[in-house]
Amino acid sequence: MAKRRVAILISGRGSNMTALIEAAKAQDFPAEIVLVLSNIAGAAGLAKASEAGIETATIESKPFGKDREAFERKLQDTLVAHNIELVCLAGFLRLLTPWFVRQWDGRMINIHPALLPSYKGLHTHERALADGVKIHGATVHFVVPEMDSGPIVMQGAVAVLDNDTPDTLAARVLGVEHRIYPDSLRLVASGNARLANGRCVTDAKGSPDDALISPEVI
Ligand code: GAR
Repeated sequence: MAKRRVAILISGRGSNMTALIEAAKAQDFPAEIVLVLSNIAGAAGLAKASEAGIETATIESKPFGKDREAFERKLQDTLVAHNIELVCLAGFLRLLTPWFVRQWDGRMINIHPALLPSYKGLHTHERALADGVKIHGATVHFVVPEMDSGPIVMQGAVAVLDNDTPDTLAARVLGVEHRIYPDSLRLVASGNARLANGRCVTDAKGSPDDALISPEVI
């Protein structure tokens, strides 16, 4: 089967982008990364993508000010010109309009650094620590017009430790992000993740006997 043509949208360092690019090198991976697009000129991830031999593009959002759709029309033209079939948001710090989201209905996924539907929005690790939750994590989900919502493809969890800082927790969650994003793209690109009644179902095996319990009492 032909590989799905994927664009990754970034705004920053692009570590999730790198995880996707690395995974897509596998011969049996059902997607190829054909374009990395940033809304911020000079985003660190752009250089990493170029080094990996991937075409990059920058469409700065700033000059468009409040006219979000004008920015997105340019984005959309670029995606269409590259025959993109799936879009991965990877630290793309830009709210998308319902118009743009509709163009990619069921074909755009995002990674969020929290176990949704908890901690939508920004500063997820700070807020999780302030609440004293004992388990935290990351989510890959299909994008819908409502921010940080949409059918969940995959989640990964980590224990929150008493001495965690936002940085140490973020680093542990990022490790999980780099595992679940490539696996999620594999599921979606291979057609193994389907939308049914507003939820995402997959052929992937669950592991019903594995439990993450935190803290562990010795
Ligand atoms: C990641 O932690 C991602 O989950 C988060 O931004 C970071 C980007 O890092 N995304 C959001 O907060 C979106 N709401 P990266 O550029 O190294 O992949």
